[in-house]
Amino acid sequence: MNSLDSEHLMSELKTHKDYIQTDNISDADLIIINTCSVREKPVQKLFSELGSLNKVKKEGAKIGVCGCTASHLGKDIIKRAPYVDFVLGARNVSKIKDIVDIKGAVEVDLDYDESTYSFASNGHSIYKTSANISIGCDKECTYCIVPFTRGDEVSIPLELLVSQIQKSVESGVVEVMLLGQNVNNYGKRFSDGSTKSSFTHLLKEISKIDGLQRIRFTSPHPLHMDDEFIEEFATNPKICKSIHMPLQSGSTKVLKEMKRGYTKEWFLNRALKIKDLVPDVRISTDIIVGFPTESHEDFLDTMDVIEKVRFDQIFNFKYSPRPNTAALSLESIVSDEEASKRLEEVITLHKIHQEELLHQNIGKTMKVLFEELKPNSEISGFSDNYIQVYVKGSEELLGKILDVKITGATRTVLKGEII
Ligand code: 5AD
Ligand code: SF4
Repeated sequence: MNSLDSEHLMSELKTHKDYIQTDNISDADLIIINTCSVREKPVQKLFSELGSLNKVKKEGAKIGVCGCTASHLGKDIIKRAPYVDFVLGARNVSKIKDIVDIKGAVEVDLDYDESTYSFASNGHSIYKTSANISIGCDKECTYCIVPFTRGDEVSIPLELLVSQIQKSVESGVVEVMLLGQNVNNYGKRFSDGSTKSSFTHLLKEISKIDGLQRIRFTSPHPLHMDDEFIEEFATNPKICKSIHMPLQSGSTKVLKEMKRGYTKEWFLNRALKIKDLVPDVRISTDIIVGFPTESHEDFLDTMDVIEKVRFDQIFNFKYSPRPNTAALSLESIVSDEEASKRLEEVITLHKIHQEELLHQNIGKTMKVLFEELKPNSEISGFSDNYIQVYVKGSEELLGKILDVKITGATRTVLKGEII
């Protein structure tokens, strides 16, 4: 989502303000840092990064801070780093073309609704595009700062999405990534109060776009993975068979304290149903270890779910206390040392699964969309179930979806031959 926000920032500045991109910081007239605030570390890094940018920037060049830390710290950023020219919150991206010329401007309005704003087209990849289907988040996960930086959830109107994706397809795009904090809560609220819709309905409508070959989405919430959704995921041939299922914790007790809305059993039931219906599915997840109330037993529940589901990819985090969140007031029973140990255990178990799962693909045939030239006359792309695959080949393969016979695997990617 942050990458797409960055692309929107760039395309708005290119289209409306004549900026062009440079890779050389000392050439830049404008430097923007797009920030995350989900954990504390990136927030700390922001100020050291700002300090070094201020030293290397060209005389008179502007610096802007955008994104979730901008929403969260607002004008305090300029207080701490007075050479920052403007601050633009994660829910105010469309205001970039106005704010860029106003020294000292701070736009962090959490109620601002840009759900019907048409961003200038970004064209980062000629084969793939991304589209926000909703902004903000209505959940209240007790560890999470996002609802305080991105505001309430508002869905983007279906017609707008379909016409935007259709336009991209007309210019050669074959794959779309639908983005939202909570994609499968789509359609619960539109800014004009129009009729309710659902994520499954949206998927069906987007699939009707001629020429669009692949649909991906992230992130769905395990709570909203009803049978209708799983059925559509399993049977719609345009929907890629890879899914992110953010577990967070395997303990029903901790899940309740996190206010996730589901139990260990519900999560397992959904994940195993998906695996059953879609044998080649690739499942990724997010896990937080060291939540303040996580006992050793709770942690073992998390390990148990990892063992039962065997995730293809795990993004694991040590709990980081965040301002405004409900969990901030909980006293922690987990030492930092214990949290690090748990993190290591998750990583070690996952590595075993990851390697086994990847090697099971050897000998299979996969459809790969080729996207990137690599050294040594290789070219890479992603399979339908989102594994990176390398083959020998050159430019004429770019943008094509071809059958590849898998001949080998490293720990994270596959090697193959076009058949
Ligand atoms: N501490 C650690 N990880 C967090 N995440 C969100 N908030 C926190 C926090 N306070 C993780 C969750 C989420 C992912 C994007 O970041 O796992 O799914
Ligand atoms: Fe944060 Fe929970 Fe919303 Fe995800 S669903 S963005 S974890 S509040």
